[in-house]
Order: sequence, then C-alpha cells, then structure tokens
Amino acid sequence: MKISPLLQFVLFTIAAFIIVNMPALFGQPLPESLIVLYMFFSIVMILLVITVTDKGAEGLLRPIVSFVNSPEKRRLRRVVFILIPLAFAFLTYRSLHSEVAAPVEHRQVHPAPPDSFRAYGREFVIQSTKNPFRALEKTNPGEFRKAVKQGGEIYFKNCFFCHGALLDGRGHYARAFTPAPLPFKGGNTIAQLQESYLFWRIVTGGPGLPYESAPWSSAMPAWESMLSSTEVWKTILFLYDYTGNRPQELR
Ligand code: HEC
Repeated sequence: MKISPLLQFVLFTIAAFIIVNMPALFGQPLPESLIVLYMFFSIVMILLVITVTDKGAEGLLRPIVSFVNSPEKRRLRRVVFILIPLAFAFLTYRSLHSEVAAPVEHRQVHPAPPDSFRAYGREFVIQSTKNPFRALEKTNPGEFRKAVKQGGEIYFKNCFFCHGALLDGRGHYARAFTPAPLPFKGGNTIAQLQESYLFWRIVTGGPGLPYESAPWSSAMPAWESMLSSTEVWKTILFLYDYTGNRPQELR
C-alpha cells in the first residue's frame, strides 16, 4: 500500500509527538518548552525528508492546494477556516484561565541572623560590624558618591537579573524562583535591617540561611566567592541610596 506524502507527514509528526512525550525515554517528563522545541525541529526534519524528491514535494502540496482552490471543497473549506481560529481561541482561553497555584510555603522574610559568621577568612559579629564606607557620607561626600556609584555598577552586573532594575524584586528571572527575590524598594524592606545583616545575607546567600528557617530553597547566591568584601559593602551603600532608605543603626 502506498501512503500519500501528506499522510506520511501527519503520521511521522504524531509519532514524534508520542516519542517526546514518553517520560521513560528521557528518564523524566520533559518541560513543555523543550517539547515545543523538539517538535519544531522534528517537523522541519520530516518536511525536509519528504520534500527531498519532487514527487514527495508535489504529493505533499497537491492535497493542500486542491483544498484551498477547488470549488467543490468550498463548504469544507469554510468549516475548517472557522474551526481553526476557534480552536486557537479556545486554547488561549484555557491557558489564561488555568492558573496553577503554587503550594503555600511558610517562610520568614528576614530570618534571624546568627550572632556571628565567618567569611573572607575572618569572623564578623553582626551586632558590631559596620559598613566601612558609611562614615564617608559625612566626612567625605565626594568619596561617598563615588563608592555608591561603584556599588551601582556592581549591582547592575550581578544582581538586577533577579532583584530588578528598579530594585523592586522583579528582575527577568524573578518569576522562576520560590521564594522570589526580595525587593529593596519600599519602607518595609531593607529599612528594617542593619547593614551588617545585608552583608551577612549577600556574602552567605541562600546556602548561609540558618537551619531553623527551613523550608528554604533560596536561589540567592553566596557572593563571597565572586565579590570582595569591599564590593559587597559598596553594593549595600547603593541599595540604600537608590531606594532612599536608611539602614537601622547599630544598637
Ligand atoms: C539568582 C537570583 C539572585 C541574584 C543574582 C541575586 N539574588 Fe539576592 N536574593 C535572591 C532571592 C531568591 C532572595 C530571597 C530568598 C532569600 O532571602 O534568600 C534574595 C535575597 C536577598 C537579600 C535579603 C534581603 C532581605 O530583605 O532579607 C539581599 C540583601 C540580597 N538578596 C542581595 C543581593 C545582592 C546585593 C545581589 C548581587 C550581588 C543579589 N542579591 C543577587 C535571588 C538573587
């Protein structure tokens, strides 16, 4: 039996769809975006193979051309051309109305810090550690502005992907993470915290969170290996300066 090229195309596409949807083949179910990608390449490949010969190309196109052109298929054509937009409208409607709620996860927004922590080869006591650049604000405003500006550059090289260009916690990647990156803007964010607290959080990141604050699955990187302590302190200056917040003073 000879299978028409159009039917071949449909059958191969269905086969490809079944294969990419078989978890057993990949060890686990594929994400939808990957399925779309694989299907795209599969369809391109199938079309290439079928249309390698003139006969195949002609056989693939003929039924389509006849469907679009021939007068006796006018009825069928109308039905199909109405059904296609309706089907897409339905799919769009369904995807808009199927919000899957994430499981509720209880978390403290600012978990209690340890008394002290080790980083950069020394011990930092949270209660008494100060931002070495803070004093410049009064003693040397020019140098202070320079440090803030450098902090901003570090922020936009390393942090804004997650914490956002406006420091509102809405960076490009923010929606991918639970818990979400925290905002620095607003009166109930870093204004409640000491600079040494931020230093601890930035330097030790998600991995440094205390055991009691579990469940934690924080995406916040530990910056100790990527930024020097000076760079972290300058970034902290920038976070307060840009948002107009004042840090809690040391008690
Ligand atoms: C990969 C995404 C990501 C990047 C990049 C990132 N962060 Fe975060 N950050 C998070 C997430 C998620 C949280 C919230 C969970 C947590 O507290 O660990 C967070 C929390 C924080 C907190 C705690 C804030 C609070 O109110 O308790 C600070 C401070 C912080 N980040 C600073 C920074 C700085 C500074 C940088 C750049 C040097 C940075 N982050 C880069 C994801 C990121």
